[in-house]
Amino acid sequence: MLTRALDAVLDRSLILGYTRIGPALRRRWWPADAAPGSLEGRHVVVTGATSGLGEAMVVPLLRLGATVHVLGRNPAKVADVIGAVRRAHPDLAGEPGQVLVPEVCDVGDLDAVRAWCADLAARVPVLHGLVHNAGVMVPTRTETAQGHEQALAVHVLGPHLMTELLRPQLAAAAGASGPQGGGAVVVWMSSGGMYSAGLRTTPDTIEYRDGTYDGVRGYARTKRMQVVLADVWHDRVAAEGIAVYSTHPGWAATPGVSDSLPGFDKVMGPLLRDAASGADTAVWLVATRPASPGRHHFWHDRAARPTTYPVQREPAAAAVAAFVAYVEEATGTRAPAR
Ligand SMILES: NC(=O)c1ccc[n+]([C@@H]2O[C@H](COP(=O)([O-])OP(=O)(O)OC[C@H]3O[C@@H](n4cnc5c(N)ncnc54)[C@H](OP(=O)(O)O)[C@@H]3O)[C@@H](O)[C@H]2O)c1
Repeated sequence: MLTRALDAVLDRSLILGYTRIGPALRRRWWPADAAPGSLEGRHVVVTGATSGLGEAMVVPLLRLGATVHVLGRNPAKVADVIGAVRRAHPDLAGEPGQVLVPEVCDVGDLDAVRAWCADLAARVPVLHGLVHNAGVMVPTRTETAQGHEQALAVHVLGPHLMTELLRPQLAAAAGASGPQGGGAVVVWMSSGGMYSAGLRTTPDTIEYRDGTYDGVRGYARTKRMQVVLADVWHDRVAAEGIAVYSTHPGWAATPGVSDSLPGFDKVMGPLLRDAASGADTAVWLVATRPASPGRHHFWHDRAARPTTYPVQREPAAAAVAAFVAYVEEATGTRAPAR
């Protein structure tokens, strides 16, 4: 009871919970690490694995026995990350292409997502983990090849399409036997910044076409969308043995933070947690598949967290339906059964 209250105080204070102080304290009471070997023989895709948090997930996943598909948009960076892991951890890295698999895809380009998913599905019939980690903060409104606002495409549309196209491979994890069995996990890497944003529901506001684009606000809006979409996906695929979560990493020292928020990085630098601490909960979710205690599936530092503050209203069901309908239309996927 006491630790739960203390944990909630850390969470609401932001500065205590989100920084390195959060995991330093919570480590004393949070749930146990995943069992050694719990991802043995399992395939896990991490998007945006060429930097920051995604890169920091690779070694912990390997340690748990996973084959890690290291996905980035830049092939040279993917090769660099894999090379660095191989040099630093020759005991974990196996033969080339065996447990560290290079994957190249621009997650914000829906045509590239379609092509890459078809390729992966042919190579990997059973997929156990899909971590939608790739992220951007775009200072001025930019459109992708398909005419979608960039942050929306990278955080929402691309991952949604990827989840839909890889759904058969994820569902296959529930039916498989031995180490291949046990169900699959999809994790959306959101941000605590999503608390500052409500859900947009019309095409023009979802795409930020009203001429008031702001990179930080646009980022927060799409991070709210990720949390809502993860809940929708959870309900949609739970019966197929696929657990879906969203999570946020707190404030972690990564190239993304120092490049996109240099002022914040300068002020908060000494207090930022390291990338491994920011990546911890995503890896833990993939390896342990915990049951969420309520109807939301948003986690941070190994505990489920509220998706709204007490003063905020949850998005109404009609708003969620309108948002999801737009995502389905933009990605050419079927309407969700909800
Ligand atoms: N660090 C934090 O404190 C913090 C806080 C809240 C949320 N997050 C979230 O955590 C995730 C990782 O952030 P980070 O801090 O580790 O940032 P980062 O260091 O900038 O890493 C972002 C990764 O995403 C990749 N990426 C960007 N656009 C892509 C695309 N279109 N297709 C494929 N990959 C793409 C980047 O590839 P390139 O190397 O090619 O650019 C990079 O590997 C993001 O979703 C972010 O919103 C981070």
